[in-house]
Amino acid sequence: MGSSHGKAILLGEHAVVYGAPALAIPVPGLTVTATAQLLPASAELGEFTFTMTGSGSERVVMQTGDGLRLLASEFKKTAGITDSPQISVRISCGIPPGRGLGSSAACARAVVLALADLFDRRLDAGTVFDLVQISEGVAHGRASGIDTLATGSPTPVLLSDGVAREPKMRFDSLFVIGDSGAASLTKHAVELLQRRFTGKPGAQAEFVHRSEALTRDAVQDLAQGRIADFGARMTACHELLGSVGLSTDRIDALVDAALAAGSPGAKISGGGLGGCMIALADEPHRAAEIVTRLHKAGAERTWVVPTGRFLFHGC
Ligand code: MEV
Repeated sequence: MGSSHGKAILLGEHAVVYGAPALAIPVPGLTVTATAQLLPASAELGEFTFTMTGSGSERVVMQTGDGLRLLASEFKKTAGITDSPQISVRISCGIPPGRGLGSSAACARAVVLALADLFDRRLDAGTVFDLVQISEGVAHGRASGIDTLATGSPTPVLLSDGVAREPKMRFDSLFVIGDSGAASLTKHAVELLQRRFTGKPGAQAEFVHRSEALTRDAVQDLAQGRIADFGARMTACHELLGSVGLSTDRIDALVDAALAAGSPGAKISGGGLGGCMIALADEPHRAAEIVTRLHKAGAERTWVVPTGRFLFHGC
């Protein structure tokens, strides 16, 4: 068996594909479990059979099927498995797909770990990363690795200059995630941005530079305990992503609702063009108010991710 969990990006999505830093948190309440087993040889089956369960699983198959097959073949090479056993992998995916919550990376990670378990192989973190990235490359077109890292981390992750580390966090907070109910493919969003930058000299550099500055300043805010400033940078990041066409009216309405409920900052999270938004809350009662307002503004679902002392608050 192998398992993994969801993620949400706090700052730097898309720009991270072009080398800027990004900050993400794990969403441990959204889980994926994969179970791999050897099948009796049968001419009807291919080398790998993937079966998905969970809401929206057809979409996960659509997004990740080819990537998972590639990943599984590469796993065999890495693990030195030379015969061709028939392998069935069942994936139970509790992460809604197409919402920017890391379903593709989490499924891929769970599959890698399940295959390693089946063949009794110990893979180091770098090898797991490389294998998951094979599948993510298919799912995103270009994958920075932030989803691969955050779906395997118990703590927040800062990816900067190709190196992942846990950022210092000097304030406790809660993050409220709101689902706009509209699914979208990260690959389409990544391609949209690429097309937007083509033929517009300077546009890419300007976007990346602005995002980089916001993320670097936000990391300082985190380390210095400046929650209001951190929130303001999240909202500025939302405006930046909106300015290049990655937000939607529904997401904008949810961001406005969260800010009206007293959130210090809110933004789209992940690939965009739909999916989810994320809002910062300084206290549990504020998180509860944001949840209420998000539902009134049309959120299909919400999740609260506590950090620090609020982990044990029971909200
Ligand atoms: C998707 O969760 C994040 C993107 O920046 C793509 C990537 O980093 O691979 C849009």
